[in-house]
Amino acid sequence: MTEFKEIILKREPPLAWIILNRPHRLNTLTLTMLDEVSKALDMLWDDRDVRVVIIRGGAGDRAFSAGADVTSFQGPLHTYYFFIYNRKFQEAVSKIERFPKPVIAAIDGYALGGGLEIAMACDFRIATDRSELGQPEINLGIIPGAGGTQRLIRYVGLGRAKELIMFGDRIKADEAYRIGLVNRVVPREKFEDEVRSFALRLAQGPPIALTYAKYAVNFGTQVPVDIG
Ligand code: COA
Repeated sequence: MTEFKEIILKREPPLAWIILNRPHRLNTLTLTMLDEVSKALDMLWDDRDVRVVIIRGGAGDRAFSAGADVTSFQGPLHTYYFFIYNRKFQEAVSKIERFPKPVIAAIDGYALGGGLEIAMACDFRIATDRSELGQPEINLGIIPGAGGTQRLIRYVGLGRAKELIMFGDRIKADEAYRIGLVNRVVPREKFEDEVRSFALRLAQGPPIALTYAKYAVNFGTQVPVDIG
């Protein structure tokens, strides 16, 4: 167990859990939290005993993450601050995508805005039946800034991505499953067990092949097929 301020990193080889830990603010994302997620991934990057990483909120929290902490957006907004926040956010998110081991987003509750962007950068999303997902940024007069506009298209297609991004509505887990945004919807009482067994099954896979499968799929979508 390593101490951080806004996340908890729990090693439980062959698994490791990154627990977003600001429950009083629905695990909303601050620069500190993003730095800590990034550091935790660095620590796990070449940890030989850890084969799979799971990102989640704390047990009993109402959210995986309700997105960026908008309280930091108040006061006289400084474009440069916004830019820095955004760059750091994009870097943390793309680190998940480049992380050489499978990463699972275990969603119980809200996964909104930046929370959904983190979940979409993960390789798999498992959600409880009470979960709600969405990109509500448009309601604040902004757009998803950490890859949501791009990754969402890849999961659900242009039409549905535009609907989610341009209306900013939340959808329930069942609907998210129907459109391909989550891989599994599970009853809340079975959440822990389902996530763990999904992760342990991956952990038994061949690690190098899993890394290359992940990279080929993630980066292959960014180039023509034969280059991919
Ligand atoms: N940033 C900062 N604080 C947030 C937040 C955010 N994005 N989302 C929720 N909170 C805070 C609320 O202010 C509240 O704090 P308080 O208890 O000190 O008043 C607490 O988290 C609980 O939220 P609340 O709105 O009271 O809960 P709810 O059940 O009525 O609604 C949501 C939950 C998630 C639907 C609602 O909070 C919401 O829509 N949040 C904004 C989500 C968003 O726009 N994210 C993208 C930001 S770019």
